[in-house]
Amino acid sequence: MTQLPNSLAARDIAHVLHPYTNLVKHEKAGPLLIERGKGIYVYDDQGREYIEALAGLWCAGLGFEEPALVDAAIEQMRKLPFYHSFGHKSAPVVIELAEKLKGLSPVPVSKVFFVNSGSEANDTQMKFIWYYNNAIGRPKKKTILSRQRGYHGVTIASASLTGLPANHRAFDLPIAGVKHVDCPHYYRNALPGESEAEFTARLASNLEEFIQREGPETVAAFFAEPVMGAGGVIVPPEGYFPAIQAVLKRHDILSVSDEVICGFGRTGNVWGAQTLDYQPDMISCAKQLSSAYLPIAACMISEPLYEAIRDQSGTIGTFGHGFTYGGHPVSAAVALRTLQLYEERKIYDHVAMVSPRFQARLKRLADHPLVGEARGIGLIGAVELVADKASRRNFDPAKAVGATCAAFSQEEGLIHRALAGDALAFCPPMIITEAEIDEMFDRFERALAKTEAWISREGLRNAA
Ligand SMILES: Cc1ncc(COP(=O)(O)O)c(C=O)c1O
Repeated sequence: MTQLPNSLAARDIAHVLHPYTNLVKHEKAGPLLIERGKGIYVYDDQGREYIEALAGLWCAGLGFEEPALVDAAIEQMRKLPFYHSFGHKSAPVVIELAEKLKGLSPVPVSKVFFVNSGSEANDTQMKFIWYYNNAIGRPKKKTILSRQRGYHGVTIASASLTGLPANHRAFDLPIAGVKHVDCPHYYRNALPGESEAEFTARLASNLEEFIQREGPETVAAFFAEPVMGAGGVIVPPEGYFPAIQAVLKRHDILSVSDEVICGFGRTGNVWGAQTLDYQPDMISCAKQLSSAYLPIAACMISEPLYEAIRDQSGTIGTFGHGFTYGGHPVSAAVALRTLQLYEERKIYDHVAMVSPRFQARLKRLADHPLVGEARGIGLIGAVELVADKASRRNFDPAKAVGATCAAFSQEEGLIHRALAGDALAFCPPMIITEAEIDEMFDRFERALAKTEAWISREGLRNAA
């Protein structure tokens, strides 16, 4: 697209460096300029309407125009626009939010530590774990496990936890001391003829062997999203977390539930851990915590962790960690109001009510000749496009079939994301109605038809 020299698009190309973007392509294509939002819809600078089928970045649970959150921010701005939690300071709204989160937690939580992003939350959890093991006299127990295709963020530590090549390649990551174990994707990783139960048992025994090889006295913790998001929306098979946790418990390895996407209703319960039968020692949450209206994230930790960290800080003289904006009062006020709105408007029940329709429309796509697997739970899902359904053969990644399908979706008034492996993700605002779910999938079906026509024209099915 040619950009007029002084247009916003040309100025974007000249001045903005975009995250998660092919920067070479961007210089030609320019940005899609989104100017306003309403409910599940956003509108571009030409007034075109799009269903935001990924709630932005899996985060705007209440959609794109919630006045109660704007009011909460303004009210707090007027009262106290900034304060911090360093050196024994606090603000009432931060205390209230911590209490609220503890009340919602699926496992006993002692303290809540506020940060600004999911990456900072996981980075901080790693520091907590190392500090804790030093405090209790286990200086060798430091290795952190996460899973291939897991997504935990992009700081040096959290990108190391992430198990996706694009987050490591050319960044000199992962750092030493972070190791990746099996991804629980039955469709892709099960052996021929293996049942889901056998697959789960094999993953648990692989984990046991891995820990034995590393030396159990060196393995500190395991990070997992209940449902993997950016890695392709992978729902683990039934019984996966109980089987994995039995191994972890045997070796006194802490478990962290990364609830950055799954937290606050996405999977049909408040927490993904509840849906997937996972009992973590620590929880990271963000995104829907404030419906993404302002940046805020939290680390929730158990009493034994807290006690060891407390004692160590007493010995050292301070707990030497914290971010200027961690527990920002305006973000905290918006988060608190968000959590109240989820309850007042019965959003968790709403998700439980509309998700059967979402899952039915999603799973119906499995009959499409391009779709290898349609998978999901609650209000999150993905379809994986394949060149050959019977053999599950992927398309050549260089052909960018998923990205092209997402571009066709955009033409049809639907914004979502193509993930690695040509998986198209759906994670709409939780306020979506059944009629809007139908509209979303109707638009996607038209995009899929265009994708199929393009694939046939280009002869991509036969390419090696
Ligand atoms: C499960 C999970 N953890 C962590 C993160 C990182 O969060 P942020 O982008 O706020 O740093 C994300 C972001 O998508 C995520 O999906």
